[in-house]
Amino acid sequence: MLLNFNSNLYLYDKKCNFAALKIMKMVYILGIESSCDDTSAAVIADTTMLSNVIASQKIHAEYGGVVPELASRAHQQNIIPVIDTALKRAGIRKEELSAIAFTNGPGLMGSLLVGNSFAKAMAFTLQIPLIQVNHLQAHVLAHFLNKPNESTPKPQFPFLCLTVSGGHTLLLQVNDYFDMVKLGGTIDDAAGEAFDKAAKILGLPYPGGPVIDKYAKDGDPNKYSFSISHLPGLDYSFSGLKTSFLYFIRDNLKENPNFIKENIHNLAASIQSAIIKSLTDKVKKVFKESTCKDIVLAGGVSANSGLRKAMTELAKRYNRNVFLPPLELTTDNAAMVAICGYYKYLNKEFVDYDVSPYSNDSMQK
Ligand code: KG4
Ligand code: ZN
Repeated sequence: MLLNFNSNLYLYDKKCNFAALKIMKMVYILGIESSCDDTSAAVIADTTMLSNVIASQKIHAEYGGVVPELASRAHQQNIIPVIDTALKRAGIRKEELSAIAFTNGPGLMGSLLVGNSFAKAMAFTLQIPLIQVNHLQAHVLAHFLNKPNESTPKPQFPFLCLTVSGGHTLLLQVNDYFDMVKLGGTIDDAAGEAFDKAAKILGLPYPGGPVIDKYAKDGDPNKYSFSISHLPGLDYSFSGLKTSFLYFIRDNLKENPNFIKENIHNLAASIQSAIIKSLTDKVKKVFKESTCKDIVLAGGVSANSGLRKAMTELAKRYNRNVFLPPLELTTDNAAMVAICGYYKYLNKEFVDYDVSPYSNDSMQK
């Protein structure tokens, strides 16, 4: 029987004596995420999520998108209470932490700087290791988190991953925790951006993805058709789809000023279906080319109910296993940063205090 006392695992022997045989130390990682407009902190014990606190910044809704300057200010206001709450919910004192992992890129520079600076100051004060995390790798590795008293099956390396978020659309082959090879990506807008822009055209609030998803549930996905791009290979493009949607709405509004209002469910369902078709067409292609048995979905758009259903059906048809992240781990969160930090902790991949954030799309750090 295993017992957890003061962050160490002890073995309870068969005669029920406390053998007090220390077998291994539990690793407690504090994760900090501040790359865009969510301030989040989480504590994990090895791979088990003890807390995952997210403060979403509502202020951007009135501007129809993320305003970088407002995002970094809000991170500054949120970061202390969010970290404090994450530690309290986990029931962990800061002195018990083994290391601090923080998102160092890609993302908005002003937002990243808040998490980067706070993590450095806290790690220095506690004299514990500092770990930099790549946001895109974190979305993928979210699949390796466990909930307390629950261990779900995990994808087996090498596996495929479709990462779809507000800033990224990537098809990856994941050979190991930190060996991810890009097979394809977007040449313009990301899938989440396509959802957000379509929502804006329909006069819906930001972020538009969840709102379109909600309206689409009661709409006919085949009511309207919009042209999707057919780039060769495994790359994506969403800017043409956005433009055709914009012109279609504009032309119909000229005929009927109530066109959006009267057709909102069918419009949402049809644009959602076009984005999903664009995404799944390339997945079909990669299924034909790759021998990987497992595919995982990652990133904010992986919360989309239509995409989850389409990927589940497609995987079944091609005899693959699909792994869908729990909804709470789809959009930006710090638990995914902490799990990335955990695997780097095991490899002793620590950074010094002079490490700077990066805004570019690197998958390497
Ligand atoms: O991963 P994420 O939180 O942030 C980035 O790293 O970009 O993704 C945010 C994106 C937004 O574009 C949002 O509209 C989209 O994820 N999203 C959705 C849904 N929930 C969030 N898109 C479609 N359907 C959803 N249910
Ligand atoms: Zn993200």
